[in-house]
Amino acid sequence: KKSDEELTNEGWRLRRELGAQVYIPGHHYQRDEVIRFADDRGDSLRLAQLSAQKKEAEYIVFCGVHFMAETADILTDDRQKVILPDQRAGCAMADMANIYQLERAWKKLQDTFGDTIIPMTYINSTAEIKAFCGRHGGATVTSSNADKMMQWAFSQKERILFLPDQHLGRNTGVKLGVPLEEMVVWNPVQDRFEGEATNRTRVILWKGFCTVHEKFTAKNVAACRKADPEVRVLVHPECDYEVVRQADYVGSTKYIIEMINQAPEGSHWAIGTEMNLVNRLKHDRPDLDIRLLNPVMCSCLTMNRIDLPHFVWSLTRIADGEPENIIKVPKTVANGAVLALKRMLEQS
Ligand code: 13P
Ligand code: SF4
Repeated sequence: KKSDEELTNEGWRLRRELGAQVYIPGHHYQRDEVIRFADDRGDSLRLAQLSAQKKEAEYIVFCGVHFMAETADILTDDRQKVILPDQRAGCAMADMANIYQLERAWKKLQDTFGDTIIPMTYINSTAEIKAFCGRHGGATVTSSNADKMMQWAFSQKERILFLPDQHLGRNTGVKLGVPLEEMVVWNPVQDRFEGEATNRTRVILWKGFCTVHEKFTAKNVAACRKADPEVRVLVHPECDYEVVRQADYVGSTKYIIEMINQAPEGSHWAIGTEMNLVNRLKHDRPDLDIRLLNPVMCSCLTMNRIDLPHFVWSLTRIADGEPENIIKVPKTVANGAVLALKRMLEQS
């Protein structure tokens, strides 16, 4: 078994050898041992935009999760191959919405509300869900453009079906002035509304969530404030509504990074987002007092599956001319999904 140092050296050697043939995008939640190899780092929106621009690389070794690699495949040329170093790097939230559930939900929603709904999906979803949304006039959103995209959706139809993240949907709806009473949760496992769907309903929230961000609670916020009255609470909008309501600042990964980069010297922060990112922010700003909002480990297990051995293995397979773990979205699905993605990219 090779040591981390040997693997790192091998990674750099392969990186140099492969040159412009390979492009390596990395999500901010990736491990340090992997993100250091990234040509560009970004949140989901930036990584989607970059994938659409990198026309020269034959291989895109995607350091992120499956839905991001699918998105990159949809937005790149046919000759480009997107590789996910570990196929098990999925996303718990994306797995909470499948196309069969969506088709059943859609039928019920059409019966209840007629043709007044637009389906909008968080980019954290499968390509099939994106394709459904694209073919029904909807679009994708990311956490950094959810307000804008939801506003756009309301200019198209009276009601929005927002999936798969109920929290991002609810938090964004409230931000746009939609009262909680005008939102209803759709339970995709039991095929039913939770609560009452009325003619006042404007947002239908798919009952999905992020297993990392759900770990931050209103109790954590209270405990942090009690322990340190100076603390500023900064959270991602995938957190529960109550946490968001009690936080001082709420925003996407990009926003969180910008807030910490610009933070006044010596200020205190409790951050509600993925642990690899929080640890990196801590490292980059040693003058700040930064802690994780929930002291118990909050890392994304699937993001962490892309580790140094898998990453180096992927580069080795490319160098040997036998690339593996190629993520290929079937053409029929990609054609629908690209409609949803392009509607978003045009407005971002
Ligand atoms: P963003 O990168 O859009 O902030 O999303 C966070 C996330 O959970 C990615 O999986
Ligand atoms: Fe999915 Fe949450 Fe992990 Fe992002 S952090 S990949 S939304 S489980």
